[in-house]
Amino acid sequence: MMKIVKLGHPALRAKADAIDRIDDGVKTLADDMLDAMYAHDGCGLAANQVGVTRRLVVIDVREAKRRPSVLRIGGKSRPVHKHMPMILVNPQVEVLAGGKVAGSEACLSIPGVHGDVDRPAVVRARALDIDGNPVEFEAEGLLARALQHEIDHLDGILFIDRLSPEDRRRVADELHEMAGGMVG
Ligand code: NI
Repeated sequence: MMKIVKLGHPALRAKADAIDRIDDGVKTLADDMLDAMYAHDGCGLAANQVGVTRRLVVIDVREAKRRPSVLRIGGKSRPVHKHMPMILVNPQVEVLAGGKVAGSEACLSIPGVHGDVDRPAVVRARALDIDGNPVEFEAEGLLARALQHEIDHLDGILFIDRLSPEDRRRVADELHEMAGGMVG
């Protein structure tokens, strides 16, 4: 089982490199990331989180029954579960109209911490699948949020960077306590 790296590990702050060839190494990495994500009950994982700075993310929102997702391909709504898990190589998102929505987030690399993050509600994603075929779809709900959270990871950005100033202060105190820090 691949180890998920935690806040403080340099890979979490690195910009990941594009994948120019989907070889067996990339396929194995994707499988290992899925295993790690499921083992920790996550709904998404980026390669940076297993210490590999390559642009690969995995997502599976099926277990989050109370946080629905919408998936559209070619303008048509599709059953989300049929497209899970998603393995996305070199994913990108484009923000579509619809404004931002607040939603609770957490991260397997920052255990015990959660907070509300404002993110665009509707996005269009483009990526390659694990066979190298281009994929393009629109997402709303948890899927849109997960895509943005995971692609942020590929750019060295963590959800705690996007919290409100008040939440960031609260989280900083929590992280300090978790690290065993003591203010003298
Ligand atoms: Ni995360």
